[in-house]
Amino acid sequence: MTLQRQKIAELLKETPGKEVLAKGWVRTKRGNKNITFIALNDGSTINNIQIVCDMATFTPDESFKDISTGACIAVTGKLVESIGSGQKVEIQAGKILVYGTADPEKYPLQKKGHSMEFLREIAHLRPRTNTFGAVFRIRHAMAYAIHKYFNDKGFYYLHTPLITASDAEGAGAMFQVTTLDIDNPPRTQEGKVDYSQDFFGRRTNLTVSGQLEGELGAMALGEIYTFGPTFRAENSNTPRHLAEFWMIEPEMAFYEIEDNMNLAEDFIKYLVRYALDNCMDDLIFLNNMIDKELIERLKSVVNTDFVRTTYTEAVDILMNSGVKFEYPVSWGIDLQSEHERYLVEKHFGKPVILTDYPKDIKAFYMKQNDDGKTVRGMDVLFPKIGEIIGGSQREESYDKLMARINELHMDMTNLWWYLDTRRFGTAPHSGFGLGFERLLLFVTGMSNIRDVIPFPRTPKSAEF
Ligand code: 4AD
Ligand code: MG
Repeated sequence: MTLQRQKIAELLKETPGKEVLAKGWVRTKRGNKNITFIALNDGSTINNIQIVCDMATFTPDESFKDISTGACIAVTGKLVESIGSGQKVEIQAGKILVYGTADPEKYPLQKKGHSMEFLREIAHLRPRTNTFGAVFRIRHAMAYAIHKYFNDKGFYYLHTPLITASDAEGAGAMFQVTTLDIDNPPRTQEGKVDYSQDFFGRRTNLTVSGQLEGELGAMALGEIYTFGPTFRAENSNTPRHLAEFWMIEPEMAFYEIEDNMNLAEDFIKYLVRYALDNCMDDLIFLNNMIDKELIERLKSVVNTDFVRTTYTEAVDILMNSGVKFEYPVSWGIDLQSEHERYLVEKHFGKPVILTDYPKDIKAFYMKQNDDGKTVRGMDVLFPKIGEIIGGSQREESYDKLMARINELHMDMTNLWWYLDTRRFGTAPHSGFGLGFERLLLFVTGMSNIRDVIPFPRTPKSAEF
């Protein structure tokens, strides 16, 4: 019977004594002419398994020079108790097969401690480092937990389109999608680009949000969520913005803003708890190497009630704080991340949900309050991050929604279908969007959003 390869995560839990087969990439090799130690990793866990090679059992032509950091090997041997490796077991190597070498002169990941900036330049190799292995395993676990959370609550996963003809969100500049020859596009008689000849017979873009289609789903299925990539061509070169990021957008019929806040708080706490329960090895590594307060911060979020207050109250707090902010504060401004972080980190010392924002800084679809000035929007603000969730109760009255649309001189030709939700069986409803990478910044303790997505898309950067 041929030996089945086992993953290292599994091998490290086995009892010693049996013959095993492990495959993976060499992290380090050291030793002398009598004995060689190889630390092997296959991505299944942050932990390496130690391979011990008694050189007397290998013939001289079984070359060890090909086994260097980065090389890929298969090892057959006996699983034995380990004393020095930091793990309970190690492999006493019998046979080693080299699948792929990694020339030490050329392989860029020789030593530890490379800067995050350098690793971004080799984004195709950085998943092989401990840090990025941990981050991407946690990223996976969070994606799984998101689906589990909603599935267990009876929400349906709705796939909304990535290519759209509308920009209702007004969330930022959009990336155009076209098959026209951009050097020589067809023109109308007035000299404008003739989009009727474009692939979709109209001008199209990559979506900035799945919400509007999500609302259609909620008006039929009750409770839905989307989870997909969204695209914003804003030129914000910050540690919290990507041009391509993933967003989770639940949308619920019959939810008022309070229900929406309750769901948002419960959802984030569930995800953080899931990470604490299922990703501890990776979190301990990140806590040691990246952020010494990470685990403590995660635990504290799970155990505290988020503060709930209004935008107006927040502006008062900021104006009375005596702090000189880079962007001065007055009622009506869009809060900057310095303001959000002051509220969360200095003033309240816990996550904050702000509601009832001025209507002029929020999207047209938010439910209007009776004061004529504010809308039922809600942002969830987090330590180190600022805004992690943006959402609202939606304006369900056709007349009020149209009044706002006219006030904003919005062109609704491409959005007639959205207005139909308010014309046929409209209902109170609410929803929000969680930025997946912002969540991951919080859960991993990483400080730059480019380091929690495998292949970041930012201005002037789309190499890998
Ligand atoms: O606040 P935003 O723009 O809200 C919406 O798009 C709504 N349609 C959501 C809804 O109600 N269904 O974006 C939601 C979240 C933000 O709170 C932030 O976490 C994240 O998406 N986000 C970004 N993340 C990374 N890079 C960017 N450029 C982001 N812009 C927003
Ligand atoms: Mg927002």
